Amino acid sequence: MKITVAGHASTNFGELWHKSLSDLLHEASFKAINNANLEEKDIEAIFVANKAAGSFEGQLHLGAMVSELFPHQPPAMRIEGACASGGLAVLAAEYALLAGQYKTVLVVGAEKMTDVSSEESTQVLAGAADLEKERGSTFPGLYALLAQAHMQKFGTTREMLSAVAVKNHLHAFDNEHAHFHKQFTLEQISQSALVADPLRLLDCSPISDGAAAVILTSKSLPTGKKNKAKILAFGHAQDSLTLAGRSSLTELLATKKAASQAYQMAGLKPNDIQVAKVHDCFTIAEILAIEDLGFFKKGEGGRATLAGKTSKNNKNSQIIINPYGGLKACGHPVGATGVKQIAYLAEILESKNYQFALAHNVGGSGATAVVHILGI
Ligand code: COA
Repeated sequence: MKITVAGHASTNFGELWHKSLSDLLHEASFKAINNANLEEKDIEAIFVANKAAGSFEGQLHLGAMVSELFPHQPPAMRIEGACASGGLAVLAAEYALLAGQYKTVLVVGAEKMTDVSSEESTQVLAGAADLEKERGSTFPGLYALLAQAHMQKFGTTREMLSAVAVKNHLHAFDNEHAHFHKQFTLEQISQSALVADPLRLLDCSPISDGAAAVILTSKSLPTGKKNKAKILAFGHAQDSLTLAGRSSLTELLATKKAASQAYQMAGLKPNDIQVAKVHDCFTIAEILAIEDLGFFKKGEGGRATLAGKTSKNNKNSQIIINPYGGLKACGHPVGATGVKQIAYLAEILESKNYQFALAHNVGGSGATAVVHILGI
């Protein structure tokens, strides 16, 4: 596959009350074009990732909103797949490039979540589950069920969940764009307010505003620009919308299927990956992800995290997971997240000595999963 991440950018993440959704889309898009050393006119098409601007902002026509920022108004479309909207928009852009329809496109993801109350945002987010069958359950509630099942089956402990949050808050500390720049101890995480047993406040990703963008191109880049990250492979799979429809509550089958497709397409194995951005919307979600992606044996993800095997600050680290703080501490503006993962991994591959990286983006409680493998 010959797709290069020619440019990447993000806004800050957090409670950005002084910026509108349109401001965020504009900022990320033009920073990415600048990062790619391109001009507005070079963008042939636009893919906008967003989960719920219709509910958060009363605004739905985001393709047109971004297109009109460009004098030549390129064709644009909005892609929605709950918290996997970003990964799906990158995928849609890749399909268009591989089909030969366009050569250089912009993918931008954004969400503005903090203009409504926590109760309202919880309701909006619940729209990513099956409202008919899971009425009354929030997303922390659904992931709490997954955590309980994992704890019962594999002996995963409270301390192991906390270790995910401690690490990701530490990783976010020197990320200037992160929602939180605050470090916590295992005890502080374990004693934070209970949200849905066993998940506590500091087990949860926050309600964030923010945007991220990447420029993807199938053109060969001129000499001197060869240190750009490439998309090597992708995978995309679905599972039931409800937890009740799942064959297992201790794994996300969609993640396993999407990862297996991506590894096969790239000709790589899990132990070839040196750095990954996984979908840690809750601490248990990161433990499930690092097992389902094949980095650790089923049931061992919590122990590995507590032992420092996924930390960028540990000499015994086996793989770096969520080096910029993940969803937990960098922030989770849901429509932006999957694009942010690709943007950050492209930046890491350009600047650090890694060869292969993986992005894992999940929608709902595991109904949609998108996996990308990048290389340099
Ligand atoms: N992690 C760390 N700190 C957080 C936090 C989080 N997830 N959420 C809020 N905080 C902090 C706030 O900054 C604030 O700190 P301060 O008092 O120092 O200013 C404090 O905790 C209280 O914040 P508040 O906004 O009142 O929290 P809340 O109770 O309204 O919301 C959650 C907390 C956990 C319920 C909310 O973040 C949430 O619903 N998260 C999950 C989002 C989700 O489901 N996403 C989709 C996943 S599939």
